[in-house]
Amino acid sequence: MSLLAEIREKASQKGRNIVLPEGTEERTLQAIKPIVDQKIAHPILLGDESEIKGVASKIGADITGAEIINPAKAPFYDDFVQAFYEMRKKKGIDLDKAKATMLDPLFFASMMVKMNKADGEVAGAENTTGNVLRPALQIIKTAPGISAVSGSFIIIVPNCEFGHNGIFVFADCAVTPNPTAEQLAEFAKTSVATAVDLCGMDDPKIGMLSFSTKGSASHELVDKMAQATAIAKERFPELKVDGEFQVDAALVPKVGSSKAPGSPVAGECNILIFPDLNAGNIGYKIAQRLAKAEAIGPILQGIAKPVNDLSRGCSVEDIVNVVAMTAVRA
Ligand code: ACO
Repeated sequence: MSLLAEIREKASQKGRNIVLPEGTEERTLQAIKPIVDQKIAHPILLGDESEIKGVASKIGADITGAEIINPAKAPFYDDFVQAFYEMRKKKGIDLDKAKATMLDPLFFASMMVKMNKADGEVAGAENTTGNVLRPALQIIKTAPGISAVSGSFIIIVPNCEFGHNGIFVFADCAVTPNPTAEQLAEFAKTSVATAVDLCGMDDPKIGMLSFSTKGSASHELVDKMAQATAIAKERFPELKVDGEFQVDAALVPKVGSSKAPGSPVAGECNILIFPDLNAGNIGYKIAQRLAKAEAIGPILQGIAKPVNDLSRGCSVEDIVNVVAMTAVRA
């Protein structure tokens, strides 16, 4: 069974409620039938019911089985307004602003997840990453003990002997432009949950990447990754993590043993933590385009409850898969 088929199968055993705030987005509506038919989740669409049904009928999408909630008419709208106001008043939000904000489906969806009206959220087919993430960061916030959210990709490289049978987790590829050493250490920790929950990895090994291996070059950028490695080892002693590594020292056993002798993970890493968002975003796209890897994500990590962002170029199939991953994490 492929990894994605396994994830769909796991989701179908969970029966989670997943809110899709982009209720009139065509691919989202087309995704409803496979989500319902395969019991991947109970989907909740946000928006005006007649408008949503109008779009669905125009494009021939069967949305039977989806619940529709119009934020403006929801019985819990007033509670949400009050909760948002309490949460954000110190940030200068007044009641009028809270009322207007809770009419925004992206904010309403994050509040549904926060208030246990949904188990997870998937959006981004028609909104930018930043616009999907901001409400989630403001309302749902980070998981206990974690201060920074990251976005990972599961990378499946065909005919590859490295990693977990060619499967890797790359992070951060989507969220934090210039992370601190402390935040990079957290990305190592939260990537392990992705590797275990979604990839079924039984022996996650994390490489903290740089252009230097174990002090082969000296520069403040190298120091940052060495420091991130030290923090990860100290804060999360249960992790198998090492660095700083050039990517070949992390992946290739021969290179790992010659450049980082004695390292517990060099040459065997299946989780790669990139030094910043430039490197992570470029890195996953190179693997995808040049190595013909399948890139699944971004998967938000470190957030208190699961929210996932779609690419605006996503297919119906991508939406179904991201809903399944969100349900598995919920
Ligand atoms: N982790 C946890 N919380 C965060 C993070 C983070 N990485 N970044 C911001 N926050 C918090 C802030 O502390 C703030 O909390 P508060 O309001 O309660 O104090 C809240 O989130 C909102 O912060 P803002 O400053 O309003 O939001 P900001 O403008 O910094 O946006 C965002 C944050 C959306 C994550 C921004 O950094 C961003 O756009 N990142 C890049 C996204 C992107 O374009 N990715 C590439 C494309 S995706 C792809 O190719 C796969």
